[in-house]
Amino acid sequence: MPITTARTLGDFMEASWGRSESLEGIGAVVGAVAEGARMVQRQVQAAALAGVLGATGETNVQGEAVQKLDAAGSDIFVETLIGAENVAAVGSEELENPVIGGSGASRRYVVQMDPVDGSSNIDVAVTIGSIFGIWRRPPGDPVTGAVLLRPGRDQAAACYVVYGSSTMLVVAAPGGVDGFTLDPESGEFLLTHPGIRIPGKCEYYSTNEGNFGKLDAPAQEAVSRLRRSHSLRYVGSLVADFHRNLLKGGIFLYPGDVRSPEGKLRLMYEANPLSYVAEQAGGAAYSATQRILDIQPERLHQRTPLILGNRAEVEQTVSIIRGG
Ligand code: AHG
Ligand code: MN
Ligand code: MN
Repeated sequence: MPITTARTLGDFMEASWGRSESLEGIGAVVGAVAEGARMVQRQVQAAALAGVLGATGETNVQGEAVQKLDAAGSDIFVETLIGAENVAAVGSEELENPVIGGSGASRRYVVQMDPVDGSSNIDVAVTIGSIFGIWRRPPGDPVTGAVLLRPGRDQAAACYVVYGSSTMLVVAAPGGVDGFTLDPESGEFLLTHPGIRIPGKCEYYSTNEGNFGKLDAPAQEAVSRLRRSHSLRYVGSLVADFHRNLLKGGIFLYPGDVRSPEGKLRLMYEANPLSYVAEQAGGAAYSATQRILDIQPERLHQRTPLILGNRAEVEQTVSIIRGG
């Protein structure tokens, strides 16, 4: 029996955050993410027809080839978020510097985003996503430097979108983690996964086994241990791998290696938001040396090793990687 009477995202946010002073106005930010996600989802579904396959021919600040959908997604979310009236700045994987919306008192949030995660999968119709970290901006703080580089533990909320066999928006806030499924008919995100908690049993491990030879001995030992007792599931889109592990139980790891000690994934708009979601769902997230959410950022696009998922599995894996 299809869910047709589920609560809409808007009703849920009003009921959950409408009277919360600390989260005042955050509904408009998540609503702007949902609005942008509907537009990106239409392009993802049409992709070739929408002319968003392939690369733009440019490289971004990461030195990576920019896919047409990367650029289109970044533009869409910048527009909906800055248009939300209460966003002071948006940092994007695709932009060297943040877009400043303004410093008025009503602009009380700063968003860091990966507008399209899993770009290498766009052209082959494999699940991709979008990731957002949302920080409160202390009233009166100038919209520069420090307010844009706050540790992940200061996030007011975090959310991600998965454009897969269905399109889901997962939102984490102090009250917990809740999942909403896009109803293609109405265009509404409907509450289908209330109160998400990561299962106690860790079924899967997700890592790029092709990098095994580049890992140092402790990291190789950690991966070998997981290989002996878990099923490997690796999509190549962090948000898709994380979402499966969140719902079914699993651990994702992209460690540093001998060539890239800081790993590949970005702290501000990949590791921080998903680590916030993981911890709110009862999981854990480390860089191998410390809790992700405690890292004091220094640069907008800095990278970090990332191990996240089931708390017990993550803690054991990190202990091995540390040579414990
Ligand atoms: P993005 O498309 O935003 O650059 O992110 C891609 C990331 C992440 O989604 C994924 O887990 C990882 O790249 C895969 O890297 P490898 O291809 O090196 O495994
Ligand atoms: Mn990404
Ligand atoms: Mn990306």
